[in-house]
Amino acid sequence: MGMSDDLKSIEAQVKEGLEKVQSEEALEELRVATLGRKGQLTALMHMMGKVPPEERPAMGKLANTVRSEVEDAISRRKAELVRDAMARRMAADTVDVTLPGRELSLGTQHLISQIREEIEDIFCGLGYTVEDGPYVETTWYNFTALNAPEDHPSRSARDTFYVVDNAPEGKEAHVQGESDVLLRTQTSGVQVHVMENQQPPIYMICPGKVFRPDTADANHLPQFTQVEGLVVDEGITFGDLKGTLDYFCREIFGKDRATRYRPHFFPFTEPSCEVDVSCGVCGGKGCRFCKNTGWLEILGCGMVDPNVFQYCGIDPEKYTGFAFGIGVERVAALRYDLPDLRMLMTGDMRFLNQF
Ligand code: DAH
Repeated sequence: MGMSDDLKSIEAQVKEGLEKVQSEEALEELRVATLGRKGQLTALMHMMGKVPPEERPAMGKLANTVRSEVEDAISRRKAELVRDAMARRMAADTVDVTLPGRELSLGTQHLISQIREEIEDIFCGLGYTVEDGPYVETTWYNFTALNAPEDHPSRSARDTFYVVDNAPEGKEAHVQGESDVLLRTQTSGVQVHVMENQQPPIYMICPGKVFRPDTADANHLPQFTQVEGLVVDEGITFGDLKGTLDYFCREIFGKDRATRYRPHFFPFTEPSCEVDVSCGVCGGKGCRFCKNTGWLEILGCGMVDPNVFQYCGIDPEKYTGFAFGIGVERVAALRYDLPDLRMLMTGDMRFLNQF
């Protein structure tokens, strides 16, 4: 077999190989096997020296033609493979540009935060400041300086979460008296912080979380929200308390809801009251929601006990004041007739999206 047959047979082989090749990698292998340094065609070209001189020009021409044909065929096949691969990718990642985009949900504030802010707005409008206090308190701020006697039941570990700071190993049971540190059960302790740090006139509210070892049920949550209020100034009377809280109730519940002041006891106020708002479900006639009383309890309040002033270094001969504590979850429940406070804690979007 002469060189020209070899050249033709390589050309034919490459053309056949090209039809079978299905990937760019396989194509590259075929190219290297033919045109690479050790490729078949390259080897044949190297043997040109052995061709008799008179045949050399014709053979050289044929070799060059075969070589450029082979190169062209390979590059055509390469273009085809690239195009096919692109077509396959396009078919796989089809994007329907007519589909509506994904809506980004901005979310809303939780109902409790909304009401807390509304209460802040009402009192800021009356010139009150908004204060803050620690969740982890000492018995001094949560009880003692608020005039709670040493044996007051609310101090017991049944009613207060004690943070064990100094209990001996193995005795971490929350036993009264073993720990001086607790999770605040009320925001009233902030009254003490504020009076320690500021001189009257004081007109402040303090919204925040409080904690009690209660099992969650329709009317109780182990963690809930209060807004404390404190006014200390010269000549403050019960009339100021009543005028302020009536105004608050009308703003938050609407003008058609009545209020009533029921005598009660709190250690830090004297006299003390609980304030009820007329039931929004039955309009005050009595129903299941208000347990047939026509009224729903909304806050505690009273005139600041002179003992508290004394504990905080404020002259009770010069100043008088009133204080109040509003349950924010209760406000939410009463305003929207919520049958169960736990709805506020479960994070159920079907419920929360309504507000
Ligand atoms: N701290 C009371 C509670 O948690 C609420 C309260 C009642 C706050 C009377 C006050 C007040 O400031 O004067 O039940």
